[in-house]
Amino acid sequence: MALRVKAEVWLARPWQCLRGTRALGTTATLAPNTLQPFEAIPQYSRNRWLKMMQILREQGQENLHLEMHQAFQELGPIFRYSIGRTQVVSVMLPEDAEKLHQVESTHPRRMHLEPWVAHREHRGLRRGVFLLNGPEWHFNRLRLNPNVLSPKAVQKFVPMVDMVARDFLESLKKKVFQNARGSLTMDAQQNLFNYSIEASNFVLFGERLGLLGHDLSPGSLKFIHALHSMFKTTTQLMFLPRSLTRWTSTQVWKEHFEAWDVIFEYANRCIRKVHQELRLGNPQTYSGIVAELIAQGALSLDAIRANSIELTAGSVDTTAFPLVMTLFELARNPDVQQAIQQESLAAEASIAADPQRAMTDLPLLRAALKETLRLYPVGGFLERILSSDLVLHNFHVPAGTLVLLYLYSLGRNPSVFPRPERYMPQRWLERKRSFQHLSFGFGVRQCLGKRLAQVEMLLLLHHVLKSFRVETLRQEDVQMVYRFVLMPSSSPLLTFRPVS
Ligand code: HEM
Repeated sequence: MALRVKAEVWLARPWQCLRGTRALGTTATLAPNTLQPFEAIPQYSRNRWLKMMQILREQGQENLHLEMHQAFQELGPIFRYSIGRTQVVSVMLPEDAEKLHQVESTHPRRMHLEPWVAHREHRGLRRGVFLLNGPEWHFNRLRLNPNVLSPKAVQKFVPMVDMVARDFLESLKKKVFQNARGSLTMDAQQNLFNYSIEASNFVLFGERLGLLGHDLSPGSLKFIHALHSMFKTTTQLMFLPRSLTRWTSTQVWKEHFEAWDVIFEYANRCIRKVHQELRLGNPQTYSGIVAELIAQGALSLDAIRANSIELTAGSVDTTAFPLVMTLFELARNPDVQQAIQQESLAAEASIAADPQRAMTDLPLLRAALKETLRLYPVGGFLERILSSDLVLHNFHVPAGTLVLLYLYSLGRNPSVFPRPERYMPQRWLERKRSFQHLSFGFGVRQCLGKRLAQVEMLLLLHHVLKSFRVETLRQEDVQMVYRFVLMPSSSPLLTFRPVS
């Protein structure tokens, strides 16, 4: 009973009242004048057992970003705690990111995502760049960059994304015109989720899943279900040690492994088809990233499979949420929407002739995406395991420490972004903001799918906004929850009305 009372006290921390609270701590208010030892960093104290009980009960840590935001307000811009034997330091200022970048080695390291690694180990499968560290990560990454992230790769896959974005627009138009009111009100999340899987899958494997139509094949349905299940179970397992969850969450582990098995089966099938087609002939046209990787032969088929699975997983929940939140913010900021719509209409002819022009001819829309990711950073936080000692806020931080940079707190810090609660894309056009747009990470380990994500988001929004006005009745904020990625707790209703 005493334990329960204590738990409730701990859980009742005032994280609900963050909007409009005092400015977050800054280096000016807290950093000591002389170099201090690691132990002098303010400590975030929490009872490990109570925390574990809470995670088990809630099947995750949905308020992690708010809990950390509160801790920054109480302790200042740097604090520490430990997870087992790992020392963790949390920070949230652009200059901290810059310092982390400056000391970065050629093989920056992140923590392992235990549930995903467990599956690969158990099944004797390779890992891709998301799960690798060290020279093997470097080897894979160097061979993936030219096919996934380089401007040359973007040029090749942009027409494929454009095709899917146009199909999305056509299917939206059809739904709107079938509606007697001449407009359509919907929870757009599922549709945008299907769009991002469809576009990424097409670019990766050169194959359409048919998710924008009505009749999904049983194979596509099984694959989508497995992706959902894999993410749900990841959240349930990722915060607790495997030695505990193997006893407390056997069913969840089973579901997690089964979901991965379906995803691997799907990727295997796609890769086998691409492989066979390449062996039968030498296609002259570009047919996606996996085909390029197989044709080049610089990575083994196992490594291509491991990486294409991580690219698939990386593309599922990530682009759909910023799309939902951008449409929502534009719906409740009609002036911004109008300016973006005018920009899209002015660029329509150039983008129709060459879809790659979306990257250069839509500066305000690009700024709107940065603004969305500032307020709603899908990644939640960035992580690096230090490979050398570092000084942060005049505290000595030794090599081996895990440093977490909280993007949610960075984006809502009024000393970095004046009036942070306001959706103002223009702020990104007014001046260069060094180490402030960090939603895709930084340095050589930054998001591999960054350009694909940007192209998917820009083209979808361009096509939708030049054809429709988006409206919402909802004026209050949408709360975010942390479920492996930071996502809206509920999807806002949006109305799409044709531009007359
Ligand atoms: C708005 C969309 C996205 C956001 C905000 C995002 C964010 C991130 C972040 C923060 C990281 C860690 C970077 C770092 O440690 O510095 C990352 C890594 C990664 N992302 Fe994304 N991502 C997005 C979309 C995608 C897409 C569409 C794909 C795949 C097509 C993808 C694949 C990956 C992979 C494979 C990594 C691991 C890279 C490595 O460790 O070398 N992401 N992403």
